[in-house]
Amino acid sequence: MNLEGKVAIVTGASRGIGRAIAFGLAKEGAKVAFCHLDDPQAEATLSEINGVSEGLSISADVSDEHAVIDFFDAVQTKFGAIDILVNNAGILHEAPLADTLVSDFDRVISVNLRGSFLTTREFSRRTTKGRIINIASDLGVLGRENMVAYTASKGGIISLTRTLALELAPDILVNAIAPGSTETDMTSPQSMSPQALAKDLNTPLARFGQPEEIADMAVFLAGPKSQFITGQCFGVNGGSVMH
Ligand SMILES: NC(=O)c1ccc[n+]([C@@H]2O[C@H](COP(=O)([O-])OP(=O)(O)OC[C@H]3O[C@@H](n4cnc5c(N)ncnc54)[C@H](O)[C@@H]3O)[C@@H](O)[C@H]2O)c1
Repeated sequence: MNLEGKVAIVTGASRGIGRAIAFGLAKEGAKVAFCHLDDPQAEATLSEINGVSEGLSISADVSDEHAVIDFFDAVQTKFGAIDILVNNAGILHEAPLADTLVSDFDRVISVNLRGSFLTTREFSRRTTKGRIINIASDLGVLGRENMVAYTASKGGIISLTRTLALELAPDILVNAIAPGSTETDMTSPQSMSPQALAKDLNTPLARFGQPEEIADMAVFLAGPKSQFITGQCFGVNGGSVMH
């Protein structure tokens, strides 16, 4: 167990990639607190974490400054000092540029980018030594038509990662994971157009990833074998982006 005695926060972990990351960290011995947006699936995720470690589930909007501060206060009260932060909460909006409302754009940037800023700021105020893992997207590197706010937010997260790796060094290591399309609610036919889903399959591995495949990288970046790694963005993406 590589994370015995550590305390981790994962944002947006009631389902999907966040849930797999939270469970992956818990299996390595970390106590895991997570937030979500009023998601009934949080109950099942919390039981799963409690089956292997100790968990805490709180409904808190990462784009709300006061909700983030209250969330961190609650985690510290229950578990003490926080060692690991995974910024995973995110939302997608797909529409042509001309049909994208200012409110759509602002909401996506607020959750994906401002949310990561707020949680990271709170973490840095309370933690002197630790790890931050930001969940970006391959689309933050590639761009994608009809997803102007989403791709801009994810490009912003990659940039944020580099700046904070500089600013918080050497005691806090900051890295990003840029997943390719992964099988979750975000990539269900209810959330994405058939055209976008078809594009997502056009990669060398020609399949969607599983949340656990993204979680494996997050667990590595949170653990003892990644101590010389900071400021990087790891593509776990079936080959959609090659550097
Ligand atoms: N699924 C993919 O193909 C894919 C690919 C690349 C990157 N990502 C990124 O991975 C992350 C997780 O995506 P997913 O596919 O698991 O999504 P999902 O929709 O399955 O889960 C999103 C999670 O975020 C939470 N959430 C949403 N808004 C929130 C808010 N304002 N405050 C707090 N929590 C909030 C939800 O409650 C849920 O727990 C996102 O940042 C997403 O952009 C996903």
